[in-house]
Amino acid sequence: MSEHDTSSETLGEPTRRDFLYLATGMAGVVGAGAAAWPFIDQMRPDASTLALASIEVDVSSLQPGMSLTAKWRGKPVFIRNRTDKEVEDAKAVPLDELKDPVARNANLTTDAQATDLDRSAGEGKENWIVMIGSCTHLGCVPLGQAGDFGGWFCPCHGSHYDTAGRIRKGPAPENLAVPTFSFVSDTVIKIG
Ligand code: FES
Repeated sequence: MSEHDTSSETLGEPTRRDFLYLATGMAGVVGAGAAAWPFIDQMRPDASTLALASIEVDVSSLQPGMSLTAKWRGKPVFIRNRTDKEVEDAKAVPLDELKDPVARNANLTTDAQATDLDRSAGEGKENWIVMIGSCTHLGCVPLGQAGDFGGWFCPCHGSHYDTAGRIRKGPAPENLAVPTFSFVSDTVIKIG
């Protein structure tokens, strides 16, 4: 190393190496924001993969009055084998008392009414109800067999759903959503 080089570093002038650090450092700061989005975007499955995603859930262990929560597309899904009383209670509610009169059932047309039958798994399987476990207010997960109507209760801001998952009281605007599902056998439900 020459004398000139040594004095140059001692005086604190930027060396070529320092300059490179500075240059890449600045590029990093400028580039970080622009680079983050494409990186996150790449991590998502594409739309066709999402559309196909489905799960099968064995419900053979659910006696009347029992529920389970499955996870589908990152969301909780409530599956409940309702008691006869829960079904009767839901059937007894006049439709004009409902805050949201729409079935919100992805298996039916969008104008289907929120009768108990059209909220459930349908004729012959009315005891079964399958719903996305996400409060329609701001998305908290409601508690089962709770609230003023014996269905689900969201403690975040006090939304009460009945035994058919229909909003009856509180700030939530819509009934709990029923996802696309079907029974692939007597004891297995396919969601999605
Ligand atoms: S998120 Fe459920 S009541 Fe607000």
